[in-house]
Amino acid sequence: MFVDPRSRQLRQELEQLAPRSISVLIRGETGTGKELLARHIHRASDRGGLFVSVNCGAISPTYADAELFGYAAGSYSSSASSRAGWFGSANGGTLYLDEIGDLPLPIQIKLLAALENHEVTRVGAHQPSPVDVRLVAATSIDLAQAVAAGKFHERLYHYLSEGQLELPALRERVGDILSLAEYFLGIYSQRLDLSVPLISEAAQRVLERHSWPGNTRELENVIHFALLVSTGDEILPEHLNLPNEGLGQIEQQLKQILTNGTDAEQEALKQILKDAGLL
Ligand SMILES: Nc1ncnc2c1ncn2[C@@H]1O[C@H](COP(=O)(O)OP(=O)(O)OP(=O)(O)O)[C@@H](O)[C@H]1O
Ligand SMILES: [Mg+2]
Repeated sequence: MFVDPRSRQLRQELEQLAPRSISVLIRGETGTGKELLARHIHRASDRGGLFVSVNCGAISPTYADAELFGYAAGSYSSSASSRAGWFGSANGGTLYLDEIGDLPLPIQIKLLAALENHEVTRVGAHQPSPVDVRLVAATSIDLAQAVAAGKFHERLYHYLSEGQLELPALRERVGDILSLAEYFLGIYSQRLDLSVPLISEAAQRVLERHSWPGNTRELENVIHFALLVSTGDEILPEHLNLPNEGLGQIEQQLKQILTNGTDAEQEALKQILKDAGLL
């Protein structure tokens, strides 16, 4: 499906990394598909256990320890029974830690120990329990810089970077934009029981020119929206909920001529706009 050279290279790296049980650090901007990739790695690894996905930014700092590593019965006033925690739930499978840079430092240290020793000690427990977890972590920030700033544990960073995958931003793999757009059109047309519209050439240019700060997620939303608002069998630029950067440029040039152009230029332009019914 992907034609851009950067995606092909990623695919090759992925095929080498996925079946091995080493940790993988995925770097990429928001919406580039880090979680999708992590799930793929889990499936390709043939690990029988669960894929457990945890957003480190959403873990309460107070209970991060218990949430990740679990707790023994009676460790909290309200805890009659014990709980495995995310780490224990991923035993035999893959633990996906999204935005690992958000994990508090003391927890980072405990995480490294768990990974190195293949055991975790639940909060309030006296004995560690053995665990076999493959870690796939994701970050949208530069972790090497976080290490240099003293915000991320250096040894954990080295442990994680055993296998590294970089998901390029969509604007860096323009070659994939149209095939992804067609892919999403197919998915949503089927879901909405509509026939698949074509993407007009002008709309294709708008899609390829946009900078996609929200990456593939943004493209998916834009295509879904376009399908809902396009009534015909073609997606046109006005169906794309995007700034029409191309037209914006022309508009600016026109304004420039209308304000600063010579009299002759202004007259000629006004005539063109009148003829086109725009003035
Ligand atoms: N290569 C792809 N093919 C199909 N869908 C994709 C692809 N990459 C991303 N997506 C879709 O884009 C959306 C975002 O993907 P995902 O949640 O994996 O991104 P993320 O990098 O984890 O984002 P965030 O940093 O915001 O957590 C999802 O709906 C996913 O299905
Ligand atoms: Mg994610």
